[in-house]
Order: sequence, then structure tokens, then C-alpha cells
Amino acid sequence: MRKYLRSFKREHYYLVNRLWKDALIRMMNPLPGTKLLDVAGGTGDIAFRFLDYVRMQHERQSRQAVKSNQSPSWQQISEFYQQQNKSNSDLGSKAVICDINKEMLKVGRQKAEQLNYTDGLSWVVGNAEELPFDDDKFDVYTIAFGIRNVTHIDHVLQEAYRVLKPGGRFLCLEFSKVQNPIISRLYNLYSFQVIPVLGEVIAADWKSYQYLVESIQRFPDQEEFKGMIEDAGFYRVEYSNMTSGIVAVHSGFKL
Ligand SMILES: C[S@@+](CC[C@H](N)C(=O)[O-])C[C@H]1O[C@@H](n2cnc3c(N)ncnc32)[C@H](O)[C@@H]1O
Repeated sequence: MRKYLRSFKREHYYLVNRLWKDALIRMMNPLPGTKLLDVAGGTGDIAFRFLDYVRMQHERQSRQAVKSNQSPSWQQISEFYQQQNKSNSDLGSKAVICDINKEMLKVGRQKAEQLNYTDGLSWVVGNAEELPFDDDKFDVYTIAFGIRNVTHIDHVLQEAYRVLKPGGRFLCLEFSKVQNPIISRLYNLYSFQVIPVLGEVIAADWKSYQYLVESIQRFPDQEEFKGMIEDAGFYRVEYSNMTSGIVAVHSGFKL
């Protein structure tokens, strides 16, 4: 029973987590040639999705170009198939994954090898509060489930602003606050009363589940976090709630 509960809970969390990350990439809607910095991205999850999405966009664009031609020549069709074999770095797309934890990066790298992501990726050990990159380098900056645990959120935001190119986009996926009062009461009950107890029963790890719940509670709500992103200098800051606000994606631009 304990084993079944553990695996059900894990599978359910992974599925929802995947859906949130997929939604983040759809919002980003990156084009071939985009340079992404994924901070606190040790697992590589965001970077892999980014590379897949860019390739798909490229293939769709090339296919449409061939189809829009009423009678494509053999050469055009053959070029289309050659384009399919282009790697992400041929397309100019690149993802840099930066994480403070060397071991997390190791796990991410191993996963990249297993999943056959051979190029377009680099792995850098670094602190989100003091990034080891020059100014104005990246088109997009992402941080997924990483900003909640840093010491100075404002430093992280200032660093994100610094390393983005003018016109670049900041995207943050993070646990947030449930907006509907009824769902919020249920969620609070679930998170404070149920998650730590489940953690103790299932994983014998009450403390880390309690920490997870408390760190979510401590994190600023959607509006407050939006204000912090604006204070760092970003423009057109907005957010989208997912799963009733259990998580939110905040977005802003460096102009
Ligand atoms: C919950 S994991 C999220 C990983 C990944 N973004 C994802 O969504 O699967 C949080 C990550 O943040 C990293 N992290 C924590 N503090 C950091 C900091 N100050 N700078 C960079 N990475 C940090 C941790 O090492 C960990 O890999």
C-alpha cells in the first residue's frame, strides 16, 4: 500500500509538472536561433523542451514553405529533407543550463546523453544571484521552481535583467497563490495537513515536505512578485496562473 501510494503520488506530480513546463515553453514560443539561459535548471527539463520546440518550429516553417509552393521542384523537396537533419546548433539555437549544484548538472548531463541531446547545450555551475555571464548575452532567461529558495530574490532578478539582451524575455515558473478562496482553503488544508503527513508516512521525510510547503507559503503572491520584477527594470510584466494559481508563469521584457 505504502509503495503504491508513493508511486501514485510521484507519477501524478511528474505528470502535472510536465504539463506546467510544456505550458512555459508554449508561452515562450521560441524561434530557431534563440539563445536561452535556464537558471536553476540542473535537470535540463526546460532546455530539452526548448530544443524540441525550436526544432518543431523549424520543421513546420520549412514544410509550410514547401507546401505553399503549388508545384515544388525536386530540389526544394530535397532541401526540405536536408533541413530536417540540421542540428540545433546549425539552426543557431542554444541553451545554457546554469545551476549552483554540480551534482544536479551531472544528473542533467546524463539525462541529455540518454535522450540523445548531442548539441546545442552547455552546462555551467553558477549562482543565480551572481551569474558567471557577460551583460546582454541571452534572448530568453528562464527559471523554473528555482527562485523560491534563493536568499535574495531581488539579486536574481537584477542578474536576469543584466544578462538578457535588450528585447530579451524573462520567464519564471514558480509555485504561487491559489486565488479562489474555496480552492485556496482546500489547498492550504491539503498542503499543510496532508503533504507533510504523507511525506512522513510515504517517504519518512516529514521535514523536507514541511519545508516545501512553508517555502511556497512564504513566496510572494502573483501581484507582489510582479512588482518585484518591475522594480528590477522589466517592462510589460504579466503573469498567467495555472491549476487555479498553484503555479504561475511571470513574464517580462528588457527594453
Ligand atoms: C526544484 S529544482 C528545479 C530544477 C529545474 N528547474 C526543474 O524545474 O526541474 C531547484 C534547483 O535550483 C537550484 N538552485 C538553488 N539555488 C540556486 C542558486 N542560488 N543558483 C542557481 N541554482 C540554484 C538547485 O540546485 C536545484 O537544481
